[in-house]
Amino acid sequence: MRITVRAPAKINLVLSVGPVRPDGYHPLETVYQAVSLYDDVTVSEDAEWSVEVSGDGRIDLSGVPLDGSNIAVRAGRLLAAHHGLGRAARIHIDKGIPVAGGLAGGSADAAATLVALDRLWGLGTPDDELLALAGELGSDVPFALLGGTAHGTGRGELTTPVEDNGSYAWVVVPNATGLSTPSVYAAYDRLVHAREPQVRPELFDALRAGDAAGISTFLANDLEAPALDLRPDLERILRDGLECGATTSMLSGSGPTVVLLAIDVEGARQVAKEMAERGYDDVRVVHGPVAGAHVVTHG
Ligand code: C5P
Repeated sequence: MRITVRAPAKINLVLSVGPVRPDGYHPLETVYQAVSLYDDVTVSEDAEWSVEVSGDGRIDLSGVPLDGSNIAVRAGRLLAAHHGLGRAARIHIDKGIPVAGGLAGGSADAAATLVALDRLWGLGTPDDELLALAGELGSDVPFALLGGTAHGTGRGELTTPVEDNGSYAWVVVPNATGLSTPSVYAAYDRLVHAREPQVRPELFDALRAGDAAGISTFLANDLEAPALDLRPDLERILRDGLECGATTSMLSGSGPTVVLLAIDVEGARQVAKEMAERGYDDVRVVHGPVAGAHVVTHG
């Protein structure tokens, strides 16, 4: 039997970062939104753990580990251990989410693997246990299970769904050179005097109203300044996005992917067209919110 589970990329509408904790993580107040870029993870029974990866040609797969350090394999082993099982599986990841881009592609793979193996092995793991396992694997993994729009606290792993009555059109501008999340947080510690993290309550009002123009006022990312310190070349992309008609341009998470909010899908297509004319040859029009990890095929 084979099961395929699809999991979405995320962007952070707000990423507010507090002072580093004793365990090395940073307390966050964040608002996640799942967007329509996906990884598909297919699992099948096998005696040994293995992972292989494919992509659509636009994605550089060279940074994806093909051994037990791959987060999908770690997710599988964690689920097996949680149930006291000595089982293994073959995992195939078909990537539609750029690697090391600040879009939580690895987290999507981990979430998809948890759901796929839970189904393959007929475990019926309760949602709260699955979310707790996800939180052990990484700060963004629980959100990849949940999808939609959600408020994240703790180090990002504590997620609560947010009422969101809108559909927002984004232009995603991937970057050829990845950026490591820990290095961006280290730059943040060096450069920024951190305060208590917070999300402006008006953002939740705008999401409830489904107001794309309204949310654009409240988007904010504390990791943008440290990421730009490491990668000053990204400033040009942010500026180009605004000049091409985006209402807001920002980094997704720790970057280097730039996301551009447009007023609607037509607006996003226009922004993407103008970005392409400026030489950005891989821009994607996506929408959010979309569903979290879900089974797409089995049998
Ligand atoms: O949780 P995750 O494994 O995705 O985190 C990757 C790295 O990002 C951590 O090792 C840490 O350096 C940084 N991080 C952080 N504070 C957070 C989330 C991540 O410092 N809230």
